[in-house]
Amino acid sequence: MPVSVPDHPAYPVGLRLAGRRVLVLGGGTVAQRRLPALLAAGADVRLIAPEVTPSVQAMAEAGELRWEPRGYRAGDLADAWYALIATDDPAVNAAASAEAESARVWCVRSDDAEAATAWTPATGRSEGVTVAVLTGRDPRRSAAVRDAVVEGLRDGTLTAPRHRGRTAGVALVGGGPGDPDLITVRGRRLLAEADVVIADRLGPRDLLDELPPHVEIIDAAKIPYGRAMAQEAINRALIEHAKAGRSVVRLKGGDPYVFGRGMEEVQALAEAGIPVTVVPGISSAISVPAAAGIPVTHRGVAHEFTVVSGHMAPDNPGSLVDWAALAGLRGTLVLLMAVERIGAIADTLIRHGRPAGTPVAVVQEGTMAAQRRVDATLATVADRVAEEEIRPPAVIVVGEVVAVAGGGEDGAGER
Ligand SMILES: C[S@@+](CC[C@H](N)C(=O)[O-])C[C@H]1O[C@@H](n2cnc3c(N)ncnc32)[C@H](O)[C@@H]1O
Repeated sequence: MPVSVPDHPAYPVGLRLAGRRVLVLGGGTVAQRRLPALLAAGADVRLIAPEVTPSVQAMAEAGELRWEPRGYRAGDLADAWYALIATDDPAVNAAASAEAESARVWCVRSDDAEAATAWTPATGRSEGVTVAVLTGRDPRRSAAVRDAVVEGLRDGTLTAPRHRGRTAGVALVGGGPGDPDLITVRGRRLLAEADVVIADRLGPRDLLDELPPHVEIIDAAKIPYGRAMAQEAINRALIEHAKAGRSVVRLKGGDPYVFGRGMEEVQALAEAGIPVTVVPGISSAISVPAAAGIPVTHRGVAHEFTVVSGHMAPDNPGSLVDWAALAGLRGTLVLLMAVERIGAIADTLIRHGRPAGTPVAVVQEGTMAAQRRVDATLATVADRVAEEEIRPPAVIVVGEVVAVAGGGEDGAGER
């Protein structure tokens, strides 16, 4: 007879299933949900079921498991280390679990937790930590606790500093456009683990207030650099802190590689022999228009978008931008760092053929509390920017996508 002692908690253990036979009986949604974790653990899965879901079939076809399309037969448990019994026939489940009991194979049952010899915890992983939660009879609560712990580890709100394997170095983190919710979970976790944060003016500055008092926060704009270039001074600060054994986050606005000089920092650190991790970020080029209701592409309207730096006027000999070619495109132009030179840029685009009536939207401080949008056309944008006293940071979107959701100079206007 199975031994059932419901008042005792389960004894937690981590099974190392790699290369070991696991029998899965039944190919429905329960199996489908459990199989990925078994496969990720490297288990040698043998699946016995007359029918399976399309996803399970795809796993079998991909060679991830061996599927025998038939029903359970006595003896199927013989060479298994562990079993998942999940057919929709209670009599089959009972017979298979009786065999598991006598063969001393730990077995999970989908239909009767009390009759099972093992329970599947709610599990999740974050950066090498496996979280497994068992509450006994309340799987929803297990899942909620698991979610809270995994989420906390991921976003750094649950601080669990590494003691082994923690390497001093620099993480170049793209912080997104400014709203603190728009940094990646990896970026947020690295920020929570940092000893030193060197931050730009743009990006999620609100997150800096949440850091514990021992974290040194350095404003990149205020690093004293004397006669040297500002970027060199930042590189030097990154290298010095990392060499002192600190874990350094270089927090940048948007994505580090979109007009962010990210690669220059990576190269300087590589030359100094310092390990660097680059964490991509949500670029303002896409997210700021989106926050103002503008899609950078739209079916039947724009099949391309081009992100352009406007930090040099079109007639500047140092400019690498082919404004004449851009004027010939029909798609969306997204201009960054262009507020001060928008008059010259708009004139150049019109002169080279982009219609003067092309809708334009200027979005200042996108995704932040002070966000505002001003609508214009190529012909009027310079005046509108001056009248509305638009200041950087702003993203300027040129193209018909601006009018898709009812915007445009005659549409929604400033909002
Ligand atoms: C030096 S570039 C850095 C871009 C950044 N790496 C990115 O991917 O978003 C700075 C420009 O990004 C744009 N920008 C960044 N954040 C913004 C925001 N929240 N609202 C509007 N424009 C923003 C502005 O055009 C600003 O002048």
